[in-house]
Amino acid sequence: MGYLLLTGATGLLGRYLMRDLLTAGVPLAVLVRRSRRKTPGARVEAAIRSWEEMEGRTFERPVVLEGDITQPDFGLTPDQTKWAAENVNAMLHNAASLSFVSTGRHAEPWRSNVDGTKHALEFCRQANIRKMFQVSTAYVSGIRDGRVYEHELRTGQEFANPYEESKVEAEELVRDCKHLDSVTVFRPAIIIGDSKSGVTFTYHNYYVMLELAHKLTEQLGSQDFTGRGVANYINLDAKSEWNKNLVPVDWVSAVMSHVITHPEHHGQTYHLTPRLPISVRLMRDVIEQVNNLYGINFGKPVKIENNQSLALELFHSHSEVYSSYWRADSIFDSTNTQRAAPHLICPHVDRDMLVRLSEAAIENKFGWKDPVVDEPAKVLGA
Ligand SMILES: NC(=O)c1ccc[n+]([C@@H]2O[C@H](COP(=O)([O-])OP(=O)(O)OC[C@H]3O[C@@H](n4cnc5c(N)ncnc54)[C@H](OP(=O)(O)O)[C@@H]3O)[C@@H](O)[C@H]2O)c1
Repeated sequence: MGYLLLTGATGLLGRYLMRDLLTAGVPLAVLVRRSRRKTPGARVEAAIRSWEEMEGRTFERPVVLEGDITQPDFGLTPDQTKWAAENVNAMLHNAASLSFVSTGRHAEPWRSNVDGTKHALEFCRQANIRKMFQVSTAYVSGIRDGRVYEHELRTGQEFANPYEESKVEAEELVRDCKHLDSVTVFRPAIIIGDSKSGVTFTYHNYYVMLELAHKLTEQLGSQDFTGRGVANYINLDAKSEWNKNLVPVDWVSAVMSHVITHPEHHGQTYHLTPRLPISVRLMRDVIEQVNNLYGINFGKPVKIENNQSLALELFHSHSEVYSSYWRADSIFDSTNTQRAAPHLICPHVDRDMLVRLSEAAIENKFGWKDPVVDEPAKVLGA
């Protein structure tokens, strides 16, 4: 069996995929870039040690390649590309920018999502990798009413933000690529933490609002006679009855790993979406509950010109960035997913689960501390 090359292994979904694919015995190579403080070898070692501590078992180390998807050839040396040509037979392209705002096509999210996918495809050509698993998003549907099917992509829809449009272009590039024999596309809905442990490693989407509300109440919050903080200065620019589609990361990774390890399911598009969405009202209620607040309003944020605190200013500007997130979701048909993985039912994100996940995020201070490692994982060719 050849290696599977995973990009984005240090992110939320990537770390779960690394755990699940290694557990399934898939020979794994990961493409990881340097962070400000850590080498790719140290980052991968720390991520795997985290799993070892959490699960009380040991994992094989994947082959680590230092690379950046925004660079041609991923910035790999000819020797590393040669290794890939000799050993890798499939790519799981998961790395992306989740930025909702952009200053133009030269910037994020286009740079990572479109240019990065072009580089991934060119790398596949050079290394003769003919099987691709592409991580897209359910929100390639853009702003649409009604039911969205897995076979649909461009239907004349408008997009709420450049992220969605960049992911459509990335999907199109992969689908149109002539030197691939097999293309499997995964389209998750909004990914949240682990359905059981509440663990998450990065904090996007729902967590951004949770964190903003948390910081704001820490700074401004004063409790009234009810013993709870009054948050009537916070406005969620949404309608309470709108639905959102949230999926726990452990389920997304389990379904993807199942599909990847069962070739009869390759070549399809999979909506990794929940059977039941949840309402924005429930999300608001949970944000209030875990922060011991009440009074968060729905509607456009109102600027209080005098005495506007920095925290409130920050809240409003972040709310603007995420305004495209607060809309009524489409209904996602997931026939292919249910057919391929009938035994993997998406855990329903109910109030209890969302509370657990939100409390875990607050407890971890919206971050994650990996164990300190003295011996980094070996990086190929380093
Ligand atoms: N989170 C969601 O709600 C959601 C929903 C639907 C679909 N998705 C898709 O799921 C995939 C994974 O998302 P996620 O939630 O796991 O995001 P994440 O936690 O932000 O992880 C993103 C990963 O991509 C890597 N990456 C970004 N730019 C890179 C570059 N230039 N070179 C190398 N690696 C790069 C990051 O590396 P660093 O650690 O070095 O930054 C990180 O490993 C993405 O394709 C995303 O579009 C996510």
